Amino acid sequence: MGFFNMSCLILLSLVFSVLSFKGNCDDSQFTLKFLKAPHPFSHLNSAKFVFQVLGAANVTCSDCSITCKLDDSSASDCGGRKILYSGLQDGNHSFGVCVNGSQGAACTSYNWTVG
Ligand SMILES: *[C@@H]1O[C@H](CO)[C@@H](O)[C@H](O)[C@H]1NC(C)=O
Ligand SMILES: *[C@@H]1O[C@H](CO)[C@@H](O)[C@H](O)[C@H]1NC(C)=O
Ligand SMILES: *[C@@H]1O[C@H](CO)[C@@H](O)[C@H](O)[C@H]1NC(C)=O
Ligand SMILES: *[C@@H]1O[C@H](CO)[C@@H](O)[C@H](O)[C@H]1NC(C)=O
Repeated sequence: MGFFNMSCLILLSLVFSVLSFKGNCDDSQFTLKFLKAPHPFSHLNSAKFVFQVLGAANVTCSDCSITCKLDDSSASDCGGRKILYSGLQDGNHSFGVCVNGSQGAACTSYNWTVG
């Protein structure tokens, strides 16, 4: 593994530790964790999100439905736990992801600015 790969890894793990959000619903058994998200102030007009759904203790999410939403657009399925948006306009954007399973629902959001 070269130096470049190493620094990528370090960067990724930094991003990983910074981007740990808990779902908004306090009584939920799920936690949504972003593994990849755009920089809060990004120069790119595309954004890739990769996230993880963590369940408490014995809670699994095999039967969950997962929906993603960008700004005011309608929600779309993102059961693959990743989604790519492109052609973003300059300005503030808000990405929301919701998990709905037999053991409860949880949502979280990530806001960033393209400029
Ligand atoms: C999960 O574990 C708790 C206690 O550890 C138990 O009360 C609960 O019924 C379990 N839930 C499921 C879905 O097995
Ligand atoms: C965009 O977000 C930034 C920081 O959150 C805020 O200061 C700014 O007023 C927002 N701009 C618009 C147009 O909403
Ligand atoms: C979760 O899914 C169930 C069954 O499909 C539905 O009745 C419920 O309204 C959903 N909850 C949320 C918060 O979307
Ligand atoms: C993102 O913005 C939305 C509305 O603009 C707000 O409801 C939400 O709490 C924000 N999320 C974060 C993580 O700041």
